[in-house]
Amino acid sequence: MQTINSNTATIVFNSKGLETLSETLISKNYASLFVLVDDQTEQFCLPLLMESIPFLAAAQILRMESGEENKHIQTCIQLWEDLSTRGADRKSALVNLGGGVVTDLGGFVACTFKRGIDFYNIPTTLLAMVDASVGGKTGIDLGALKNQIGIIREPEMVVVDPRWLTTLPAVEIRSGFAEMLKHGLIADREYWEQLIQLDELQSASLTPFIHHSVVLKNEVVLQDPTEKGLRKILNYGHTLGHAIESYFLTQPDKTRLLHGEAIAIGMILEAYLSTVLTGLDVDAARAIREQFKRFYGVISFSTADITAILELLQHDKKNSHGKVNFVLLKSIGNPAIDIAVPNELFKKAFDFYLAP
Ligand SMILES: NC(=O)c1ccc[n+]([C@@H]2O[C@H](COP(=O)([O-])OP(=O)(O)OC[C@H]3O[C@@H](n4cnc5c(N)ncnc54)[C@H](O)[C@@H]3O)[C@@H](O)[C@H]2O)c1
Ligand SMILES: [Zn+2]
Repeated sequence: MQTINSNTATIVFNSKGLETLSETLISKNYASLFVLVDDQTEQFCLPLLMESIPFLAAAQILRMESGEENKHIQTCIQLWEDLSTRGADRKSALVNLGGGVVTDLGGFVACTFKRGIDFYNIPTTLLAMVDASVGGKTGIDLGALKNQIGIIREPEMVVVDPRWLTTLPAVEIRSGFAEMLKHGLIADREYWEQLIQLDELQSASLTPFIHHSVVLKNEVVLQDPTEKGLRKILNYGHTLGHAIESYFLTQPDKTRLLHGEAIAIGMILEAYLSTVLTGLDVDAARAIREQFKRFYGVISFSTADITAILELLQHDKKNSHGKVNFVLLKSIGNPAIDIAVPNELFKKAFDFYLAP
């Protein structure tokens, strides 16, 4: 599988990727090496990493608790202190082994420790492989607000190796798959058509597609690294999806919605908005609804739920000078950015989602 050159990072694939990483770490002659894991990746991923790169036997292991709730400054402080007391200096390097939480937070810790040390990302979830691995966004949450603190800086190298997916829970695979479907909807109709042929989402059936998703995201990021224009297309489904995700976090009696599950709903809602505002064909919007429902089922929303979600959206609006602009679709594979949406359409979008 072809190596991809990102802005500065090189993205290498499959087992050859770990070989390349091994060669690079040896040749760079770092003063010391650290590997950051969470409790899950320490158990499921670290043994294979150590077996594949014997040179890392000399590395020191840094640990953090798994989960988004640990993607905050206290974890960083702990890790900065660990690095410091274990003798890390500016010539040290950090290898992040984990999902998006580990690569985002580990990247931020590396960027800030002694004004920046080299870091390497080995994404171990589907979401981190197809999304968080590309584009150099590092960062942490501030209270309940996601990704408020961070830096855009590319790692030295990203290793995308689908072997990690064999231990990833099915719901996490499904969550990452939503971002792949999004890549098709915003950039590549043929890719969308291929993905919806899949019957079941297993690592073996998804592996052939991961590289293409990385290529698509990388093409967008290369053209607009700082999200001035084109990069916004990656937010398709995310404006309403984030409001839904945040709302469910405040509702402990409801089932937990993973990020991909929330944006899957967002993509259906925004497909409806696209039929009204950007000329998406109604049959295409129905096909999008049908496919997402096939993979993700249907979540029920009461009128009170919808009102609360739309309030969260208004709150977002206040934070961005009264405007929340959407990414919508003109057709599958062909997005439009910066579209203002009249409030009265949101309720109708939920009607469209809930319709059989
Ligand atoms: N930087 C970016 O551009 C970007 C893009 C998208 C998302 N993100 C961030 O990524 C985060 C979400 O990432 P995620 O979905 O990977 O979540 P995550 O890192 O929390 O991983 C999900 C769960 O899977 C476990 N896990 C990881 N790899 C495993 C494996 N191989 N086998 C078994 N269990 C494993 C983790 O310990 C965790 O419990 C969010 O914080 C989001 O903001 C960043
Ligand atoms: Zn996303």
